[in-house]
Amino acid sequence: MLKKVVITIGCSMLFAGNAVASDIHGKDLYEQNCASCHGMDGKVSEMGKKLKPYPARDLTALAEVVDRDELRRIIAYGIRGTAMVPKRYDLDASGIEDVIDYIFTFKRKINMANGKERFKQVCATCHGFDGRAKTGMGAKNLVYSNLSLKDTVHTIRYGRTGTKMTSKRHQLNNPDIEDVAHYVHDLRFKADVGKGSKLFSSTCKSCHSSPSAIKVRGNRAKTMKLAEMSDYLLNLRIRHGRHVDRAGKNVANLSEDDTQNIIAYLKKETK
Ligand code: HEC
Ligand code: HEC
Ligand code: HEC
Repeated sequence: MLKKVVITIGCSMLFAGNAVASDIHGKDLYEQNCASCHGMDGKVSEMGKKLKPYPARDLTALAEVVDRDELRRIIAYGIRGTAMVPKRYDLDASGIEDVIDYIFTFKRKINMANGKERFKQVCATCHGFDGRAKTGMGAKNLVYSNLSLKDTVHTIRYGRTGTKMTSKRHQLNNPDIEDVAHYVHDLRFKADVGKGSKLFSSTCKSCHSSPSAIKVRGNRAKTMKLAEMSDYLLNLRIRHGRHVDRAGKNVANLSEDDTQNIIAYLKKETK
C-alpha cells in the first residue's frame, strides 16, 4: 500500500503539468496491462482472439460512442466470467484515466457501407431494411427515433431488458456497432419545415389561425409551449383520440412523415 502511494506520488510529480508526459504514461500502462489481449493498436492480439468464452474486444471505436463512465467501470471492475478481470488492483484511478485517454487516441474512419451491410444482417428482420419496422415484430421505428448516437450505441450493446431488443455485443464488434449506429442515424427522417408550413395551411388553418394560437389541454397547458412537447406526445395529441374526432378525416389521414413535417413547423413557430 505504502509502496503504491510512493510510486503514485513519484509518478505524478514526474509528470506534473506535462500533458505529453501523461499521454506517454497512458501508452506505457496500456502496453504493460492491456496490449497482450487487446493488441498494441487496440485491434485485438492473436492471443486475445482465442480467449474463451469471449474474445477480447476491439477498442478502436470507443472514443465517440461509449461514455467514459462505462469504460471506467469496465476497466476497474472487469466483466464477470471473462478474461477481462478487474484492473483496479493494477491501476490507480489516475492510471485508469490515462489509459482511457490513450484508448481514445485509437481512431478509425466510419464505414457506412459496412454499417448498411451489418444492419441488413443483424437488424433488418425486426426493424426492416428502411428502419421503419413494418415487420410485425413490434420493433421500434428507427426513422423517428431521437436517441443520441451514444444512446443508440448503448441500446445496441446492451439491448432493452424484457424486450426482443437483445444485446448485440457478441454479434458485432465495436467498429461494426459504430458503423451501424451511424447508418441508423442516417436513415432518420429529415423533417421539412417548409412542407410542414404548407400542410398546416391546408389541413389545420381552418380551425387554428396559427401554431401559437393552439391551446394545449392539461394541467401544464398554461405554461407548456408546443415546442417543449416531445414529438411522440404531439403526434399522439394530433392524430389520436379526442382531437382526431374533432379535426376530421384530413388530419386522421395524414401520413406519418407529413405529421412529422407539421410537428417540425409547429415547434419552430412556438419556440
Ligand atoms: C487477459 C486478457 C485481457 C487483458 C490483459 C485486458 N483485457 Fe480488456 N477485455 C478482455 C476480454 C476477453 C474482453 C471481452 C469480454 C466480453 O466480451 O464480455 C475485454 C473487454 C474490455 C473492454 C470492454 C469493451 C467493450 O466493447 O465492451 C474494455 C474497455 C477493456 N477490455 C479494456 C481493457 C483495458 C484498458 C485493459 C488494460 C488495463 C484490458 N482491457 C486488459 C481481455 C483482456
Ligand atoms: C429480434 C428483433 C430485433 C432485432 C434483431 C433488433 N432489434 Fe432493435 N428493437 C427491437 C424492439 C422490440 C425494440 C423496442 C424495445 C423497447 O420496447 O424499448 C427495439 C429498439 C431499438 C432501438 C431503440 C429505439 C428508440 O428510439 O428507443 C434501437 C436504436 C434499436 N432497436 C436498434 C437496433 C439495431 C441497430 C439492431 C441491429 C444491430 C437491432 N435493433 C436489432 C427489436 C429488435
Ligand atoms: C376542424 C377543426 C380542427 C382542425 C382541422 C384541426 N384542429 Fe387541432 N384542435 C381543434 C380543437 C377544437 C382543439 C381543442 C382541444 C381539443 O378539443 O382537443 C384542438 C387542439 C389541438 C391541439 C392541442 C391538443 C391537446 O390535446 O392539447 C393541437 C396540438 C392541435 N389541435 C393541432 C392541430 C394540427 C397540427 C392540425 C392540422 C394537422 C389541427 N390541429 C387541425 C380543432 C381542429
